Amino acid sequence: MRVIAIDGPAGSGKSTVARALAARLGLGYLDTGAMYRSVTFAALRRGIDPNEAEQVARMVPDLELEVRDDGVTVDGVDASIEIRGPEVSRAVSIVAANPAVRAEMVRRQRAWVAAHEGGVLEGRDIGTVVFPDAELKVYLTADPDVRAQRRSQEVADLDYETVAADLARRDAYDEGREISPLAQADDAFHLDTTGLTVEEIIDMIAGKLGHGRIDG
Ligand code: CDP
Repeated sequence: MRVIAIDGPAGSGKSTVARALAARLGLGYLDTGAMYRSVTFAALRRGIDPNEAEQVARMVPDLELEVRDDGVTVDGVDASIEIRGPEVSRAVSIVAANPAVRAEMVRRQRAWVAAHEGGVLEGRDIGTVVFPDAELKVYLTADPDVRAQRRSQEVADLDYETVAADLARRDAYDEGREISPLAQADDAFHLDTTGLTVEEIIDMIAGKLGHGRIDG
């Protein structure tokens, strides 16, 4: 079973890279950030304060969550757009620091991989916690300015300053939390994507997988 872990901070290029790599390798792709965003969406929709850890924890076991390549469904509602919005972005790191939320999401991520017989997973703790035995672990970074630039281009109605502040705040929170913080695995391939094209990034990662195992 082939499992590839792609971790790194916001705007480092994880989604683009993970999708392209999954397509090349003929594997499924799972955006674990979308799962934490979906839990956050569910809490806000039910009027639960994201800071109320116990209430959020109680909600999680029964939560119906479907994360696909083209969007998410949360409790039967299409939340693909809302999970990228400012309300969810503001609260997601608090929800993601909740141990009960993480335990349940990690369980579902492992079940997803078992059902799909492998996959490319992107997140913050895939190489360190979820799949420490992954065939390849990649840790992507980029200059904070470049990351904010990329993200503000994706989200049309948010200006650069707002995006830059949100990314900096979330990075600090994700790196500083006690449970499964954003961190590079010791054996991860560290790649700074500043100034690289998507194709260059994919080729460099593909090179780490060894010759003959994938073709373009
Ligand atoms: O917007 P961006 O691509 O940075 O983030 P994302 O991948 O959608 O993840 C949103 C948030 O979920 C992160 O800021 C983390 O707080 C949390 N997250 C996590 O804790 N662990 C993961 N494996 C993935 C995301």
